[in-house]
Order: sequence, then structure tokens, then C-alpha cells
Amino acid sequence: MGASQRIKVGLLGSGNVGSQVARILIEEAQMLSQRIGAQIELTGIAVRDTQADRHWQAPAELYSTDADVLIDRSDVVIELTGGIEPARTRILRALNAGKPVVSGNKALIAKHGVELQQAAQASGAQFSYEAAVAGAIPILRPLKDSLSGDHVNRVLGIMNGTTNYILDQMDTTGAQFDDALAEAQRLGYAEADPTADVEGQDAASKAAIVASLAFHSEFTIDDVHCEGITSVTAEDVAAASEDGYVIKLLATCERDGEGVNIRVSPTLVPREHPLASVHGAYNAVFVQAENAGELMFYGPGAGGNPTASAVLGDFVSIARRLVTGGAAIPESTYAQLDSTPMADVVSRYSIGMEAEDRVGVLAAIAEKFAEHGVSISTMRQTKGQNAGGEPTSSLRVITHRAEDSKMRATLHDVEGLSSVRAVTSLYRVEGE
Ligand code: HSE
Repeated sequence: MGASQRIKVGLLGSGNVGSQVARILIEEAQMLSQRIGAQIELTGIAVRDTQADRHWQAPAELYSTDADVLIDRSDVVIELTGGIEPARTRILRALNAGKPVVSGNKALIAKHGVELQQAAQASGAQFSYEAAVAGAIPILRPLKDSLSGDHVNRVLGIMNGTTNYILDQMDTTGAQFDDALAEAQRLGYAEADPTADVEGQDAASKAAIVASLAFHSEFTIDDVHCEGITSVTAEDVAAASEDGYVIKLLATCERDGEGVNIRVSPTLVPREHPLASVHGAYNAVFVQAENAGELMFYGPGAGGNPTASAVLGDFVSIARRLVTGGAAIPESTYAQLDSTPMADVVSRYSIGMEAEDRVGVLAAIAEKFAEHGVSISTMRQTKGQNAGGEPTSSLRVITHRAEDSKMRATLHDVEGLSSVRAVTSLYRVEGE
């Protein structure tokens, strides 16, 4: 191909992101063509309903409901429909025909990424999906290319804007989860059905994708341990704050012996850690690499225009390759590391307990920690009283690093003490 040639682009989907991608492909066609070195043409937009209202309306003749015909007429396919099917089948149709594909479909890639990459490799087509993780933030290409001569040891990410907004509201206003969620919905950050965000699955999909590229292995969402934020209380947030921490829904992807542990959970992060200063619906990814040291990638993790920017970046890169020729560069998965079980994960913990306030209670609790080899770093007691006027104490323990299995065995025994009314919270502590 060359400057006189034309690259036909087929767009699947015209939602929040898709309509902005269509707008940029049309309004910025000249700029994109100059950067690519060939003319580009938005050939069509496949949608479910050609009459639906759009965030941005392209010329009516571009819309159709026949995705397969559009794929067959295109040189490059951009898939922004979301969901597993029919997106998977359509992407495979394009890749099997040797057509490069850009996608932002994190749920699909976290589940079927291996199959899609294999199809891409078999036909020599490029499959790129920067927009699937953290919206506008360039994080996948840095992991895949810029850091490919280094060893990544750990990635800590705030990869879901909705939950970061909710936890930030709880931290700054003292709101309970339900009120902060309602505010997020009112402002349009949270969906009417916020399940995938607040239960952590959205962040878990992104964590699987990030871990695969960071550790040159093939991970799926089934390899990710996932806990959401629905049980985080205003009291937990306030207690964390008093101890110098903020609670974030953190995706942690960590080299662990011969494997990689991938987990998403509400986690205490020290106030002075760069991730603690990520407010509102913003995302950030903190990478620790052997030679590069610590890197932080920060920016808008969602939204039509920011996510469209990531899609167009992939598109320009792919289109340039069509112009210059040469085979697509496959992803490296040579390491083939396994995901490691949660029981073996070592981290610090913060535990909240309600106990009686009488002689020997602290000693009994400390003894259970010692029996399981879990070392206490700090212990804080706040006095209160129960409904009958008897003295009670709220205890907050922060441990040194301990194995997950030992921590859970400790708490099982602590809950069995007659002087302990309840273990009220358990959080991992990361970033120290
Ligand atoms: N729902 C996601 C978030 C955006 O809140 O970050 C798209 O992944």
C-alpha cells in the first residue's frame, strides 16, 4: 500500500466509545491518513439498530446490521460491541481472513485471548487491544514492547474507575458504600447495574490481560482471585485512615516463586504511595521492574473520547504496518508461568475485631497469632461499650508479612475465643 492506496475500516459497534471512534475516523481522516501514509475510509458501522440514538451521528448510509458483510469488505476491523458473542465469532472471522483487528473488549480477551491470538498468529494478522485496560492510559504496549527487555516483578493497578470513585467518596466524605454508589450512579460513573464493577470482575479481566503481557504467559480471568468492594464500610475506611492508609480496589499481579499470583481485592495502600493519590474515577498502573525500577502510568480509565484515543492509537499502528508491509508481531508467551494459589500468597494484613475489654483478652488474641507464626506489627485499641453498658474494645491489628493460609487459620482460632465478639474486617496491605 502507499499514499495513493485506501485502507477500508469496518467498525463494529456504535456505543459510547464506538461513536467517538467513528467521529474521529471521519473528522480527522486527513490527519490519520497523513500519519499512516495511505488514505483511510470508514466503510461502515455494524449496529443492532440502525435507528437508535447515538452519542455522535455518522452519515446514515454507513450504518447497517450485517456485521459479516462489513468484515468481508474491510481491510481493518475495529470491534467495540463488548460481550463474548457475537464479538468472538466476528473477530475470528476477520482474523482467520488475515485482517487485523482492534478491540476494546476486556471480558472477551480475558476469557478467549489465547484463542484470538492463536488465530491472529496463524493468519499473520495483528490483534491489538490497548483500549481494553485502563481506557486512555498506554499500558499494554509499554508492557509488551517498552519493557520487553526487562523483568517485571510486580504490577499494582487501580483499573476500575467506578470503584475508585466510590472508595474515594467514602474516604473524603465518610459516606457508606450504598450512598457513594448512588452518587456514582447519579453522576454517570456507575452503570444502573454496577455488578461487574463493584464485585471486581471488570478489574479482574484487566488484571488477567496485564499479567499475561507483563509475565509473558497465558492467563485468563479464571486465574484471578477476585473480591469486590460491597462489604467495605465507612468504619473500615475511617480506621484505615487513622492508621495512615487508604482503601483502594487494587489489582495485584506478582511474580511468586515459579508462578504469578493475580488478585483483585480492596486493599490498604499507604497514604504516601503514589497510588493513594489517584482520586475520583481515574486509573493508574504502578509497575515494578528489575532494571527500570518503579513506573507509574496514570490517566482517565474510561469514557468515550479517552478510550477512543487508545483505539485509534492501535488502528494507526496497524494501518502503518499495512502500508510498510511485514508480518504482525505476535505476543510472547514463552514463559508459560502458572498462576499460584492464594493460600501461598504472602502479604501484610489489617484485621478489625470487636472484643471484650477485660484482663487477658489481648494476650489471648496475640497468642493465637503467635501459634500460627503470624507476627503482629501494630495493634490499636479503641474503647466503647455494648448495649448493656459493658466495656468493649475495637481492635485493629496490622501484621508483618504472612501467608494467606496462616492468616486465615489464625482468624479461625481468634473467632473461637469467647472474649472475641467478631472479626469485623480483613484487608491486605500493599505498597510498603
Ligand atoms: N466500568 C469501567 C470502570 C470502565 O468503571 O472503570 C470500562 O472498563
